[in-house]
Amino acid sequence: MNDAPRRFGVLGTGHWARTCHGAALAAHPDVELVGFAGRDPARAAAVAEQVGGRAFASPEELIEQVDAVTIALPPHVQAPLAARAARAGRHVLVDKPLALDVAAADDVVAAVREGGVASVTYTTYLFQPDVTRWLERMRALAAEHGPWEGAIARWAGTIDVPGNPYGASAWRRERGGLWDTGPHALSILRELLPPVERVSAGRGVRDAVNVALEHAGGAGSALSLTLTAPAGAGGSFATVWGPGGRHDLPRFHGTPQEGFTRAVDQLRECAATGREHLLGVGRAREAVAVLAAVEEHLARPAGERTTPVPRR
Ligand SMILES: NC(=O)c1ccc[n+]([C@@H]2O[C@H](COP(=O)([O-])OP(=O)(O)OC[C@H]3O[C@@H](n4cnc5c(N)ncnc54)[C@H](OP(=O)(O)O)[C@@H]3O)[C@@H](O)[C@H]2O)c1
Repeated sequence: MNDAPRRFGVLGTGHWARTCHGAALAAHPDVELVGFAGRDPARAAAVAEQVGGRAFASPEELIEQVDAVTIALPPHVQAPLAARAARAGRHVLVDKPLALDVAAADDVVAAVREGGVASVTYTTYLFQPDVTRWLERMRALAAEHGPWEGAIARWAGTIDVPGNPYGASAWRRERGGLWDTGPHALSILRELLPPVERVSAGRGVRDAVNVALEHAGGAGSALSLTLTAPAGAGGSFATVWGPGGRHDLPRFHGTPQEGFTRAVDQLRECAATGREHLLGVGRAREAVAVLAAVEEHLARPAGERTTPVPRR
């Protein structure tokens, strides 16, 4: 058994790097928050001053000095850095979505394999006991009564509401709820239903997207995703059904920092034992592939992806 990684560094200097990754690592009794690196050393210095550790001039310099990295950067920036860290032998705790295209996600998966390192993806809901207990109960019901047949999930952010910390996030504005909230919805569905094999989708107002998913073995599910819901219309819910009945995903009561601490503990345990985490970069790659397929579908001309309703 190897030693569990102790020296952690954060790649990213934005809201989530500071308030979730950094805060959780700084408070963790068994790890050392070595510091932060981003594209702007002055911002890294300001975050380190506030949260702990020191600032590094570049991600490469930080990767040199740690056993593990956690990444809170836009996904297209995250993926190549995760691959670089993994190939340098650093364990990686990535955030969702892993990447914005399948090739970049594939490279992270290859890098984790080549580097022989542990990986965990911080899909927030799956690190909350209210949710994991419910999922265990759902799995027990499916084992007793038969597999789940379908699910609906709606995930809606409200980044246009004043004070929302993600309002200025460029990649969210460009890629919409599909890529930001979609990974959360998929993380729940994928715990209960087999892998997605085919997708189709339609658009709603602003960035809203509605997706139909066909899963291996025949189950079907639906997603409704946005991150620009009007004030009072945000929030998320999911329902699953089958021979075991119909069940709603519960709210969770823990904080994102508590969940992140669990993700750190699980990464450390995987690194020490060599166990591959079910929510490693492989599962994150699967989500990227689904989202990319939806995007490809939506890029088709309306006449090719929809059937017009005849007028009287
Ligand atoms: N698991 C969850 O529930 C959860 C919640 C929130 C966020 N997240 C994830 O955490 C990650 C970061 O989120 P965020 O809200 O902090 O993102 P963000 O606001 O869009 O960006 C975070 C930081 O990335 C830096 N950045 C932006 N573009 C860059 C580029 N081209 N090259 C290098 N750095 C760049 C910015 O640094 P500057 O300050 O230098 O501009 C910014 O501070 C995302 O993947 C997001 O999905 C997950």
